[in-house]
Amino acid sequence: MIKAALAAAAVVAAGAAAFLSTDTRADGAGADPLGEKTGGETTVWATGRQAFSFPAANLTNEERTRFVIGNSFFKRNWVESPASTTARDGLGPHFLARSCAACHMHDGRGEPPPWKRGLSDQDPLALLLRLSVPGTDPYGGPNPHPVYGDQLNTVAVQGVKPEGRVRMRWEPVQGRFADGTRYTLQKPIYQIDQLGYGPMDKDIMVSPRVAPQVIGVGLLEAIPEREILANAAAQAAMLDPIKGQPNRVWDAYAQREMIGRFGWKANVATVAHQTAGAFHGDLGVTSTKFPTETCTPAQKDCLAAPTGAEPGGVEIEDKTLDEVIFYQAVLAPPARRNANDTQVLRGQALFSQAQCAVCHRPSYKTGDGPFPRLTSKAVSGQTIWPYTDLLLHDMGEALADGRPDFKANGRQWKTPPLWGIGLLKDVNGHTRLLHDGRANGVLEAILWHGGEAEEAKQKVLRFSEADRQALVKFVESL
Ligand code: HEC
Ligand code: HEC
Repeated sequence: MIKAALAAAAVVAAGAAAFLSTDTRADGAGADPLGEKTGGETTVWATGRQAFSFPAANLTNEERTRFVIGNSFFKRNWVESPASTTARDGLGPHFLARSCAACHMHDGRGEPPPWKRGLSDQDPLALLLRLSVPGTDPYGGPNPHPVYGDQLNTVAVQGVKPEGRVRMRWEPVQGRFADGTRYTLQKPIYQIDQLGYGPMDKDIMVSPRVAPQVIGVGLLEAIPEREILANAAAQAAMLDPIKGQPNRVWDAYAQREMIGRFGWKANVATVAHQTAGAFHGDLGVTSTKFPTETCTPAQKDCLAAPTGAEPGGVEIEDKTLDEVIFYQAVLAPPARRNANDTQVLRGQALFSQAQCAVCHRPSYKTGDGPFPRLTSKAVSGQTIWPYTDLLLHDMGEALADGRPDFKANGRQWKTPPLWGIGLLKDVNGHTRLLHDGRANGVLEAILWHGGEAEEAKQKVLRFSEADRQALVKFVESL
């Protein structure tokens, strides 16, 4: 065990020093040294609005049909019960949006609402507030608020009160680079009002999160657990303060504790659990895995509302749910652009120099996904370039939400994958980054880094303007 950890540490040290020429941790990088085929053989060469919406390039025809079916249930609006279309009723009673795509628009990412604008049913919330009170639930996860549950539902069916509304304002935060250039960041401040069921406890903990893009999630799921553990072991053996930790979470499909990979705190282990959980938590659509509506005992109007459930509490059948899970799992990451550009290559060297690559680990060779029926062989055995260690890091006070989520504490966030990040503007028309979308563009995202990433940020603060631009150009080429 100790030997393995030390060997991994040696590899990381070598990799950090010689990342550009021979990134020793990039399995099979010989064939694709610049990682242009972001998702190995699944990669699609796509830009523009649909860049995140293509199936893995190596699917069979039969799998393409499953993809199309899953896509339709991801995109289409669900409706309240009773309704004439029983295939898509069961929305609510409490919910946040009518479809997955309302938040993951074009399979991409949400953005926080603009300055001071309130939110309403017409303005679907791509930023959700997770809620909890101190303690844990029976699975070791966050302890839901006794009245408001585990997330703030801003919409409800007819005759049921929404739980409340989110209001945001922004506060400027000033800083300057070593060369004297000034910058201003915007810090979001949240307020919940129009509470439907009385005041919240004083010890309520709130974690705001925007919808991330959903490309490549099946590939991330197929990264062998031992690789994630090796990342943690390698960082533990390093001298500097970067000490990532895996999250461990309960998975409703595997029926056991697993390493978390999805969500901003790695608070979900599998695409299957995430998908069924989103139908339940975000749309109010129940399934065999999550059979009870999200109403709490104090929400009498919610409990009394008609549901579209078949006996046993199911509003989306397993068969349909499986196709949405499959669809998610085979959405392809798009290929890199301009990987050979001189400025981009310079930026790549700086990315490694500033130790970005320790957390944003470039490359892996995938194994198999956990549930063969729900994914595809297409994601197995691929050399992929996601730029993440899938570990939790203390990112400092400024980013902290103060709300634990399984093993993640209130200052930790998962290193998000960076693939596709340069195409966000094409896909979603914005460049809002980080867990709550507070950063506008790559440089602002870096400037919010603190805690274990403080040293990396300090290096960037000392970069010349040309080097800052090169670093950003590299990240935008991913
Ligand atoms: C209200 C907005 C909203 C809706 C609707 C929504 N999501 Fe999400 N989604 C999110 C947020 C926010 C996260 C991050 C959650 C977290 O950090 O806990 C997320 C995360 C995910 C992820 C994990 C991505 C990753 O890499 O971490 C997947 C997969 C996903 N959602 C699928 C779905 C599916 C399928 C549906 C429809 C059933 C759906 N979502 C509906 C907001 C939404
Ligand atoms: C200690 C680990 C660590 C280091 C070092 C690090 N990052 Fe990050 N990075 C993270 C985490 C964790 C987040 C998510 C924080 C959040 O959402 O609040 C993040 C977020 C980002 C994002 C936004 C991603 C998104 O999807 O919104 C970018 C861009 C980024 N990092 C680039 C960099 C660059 C460039 C460097 C080097 C200068 C760097 N990071 C160094 C851990 C790290």
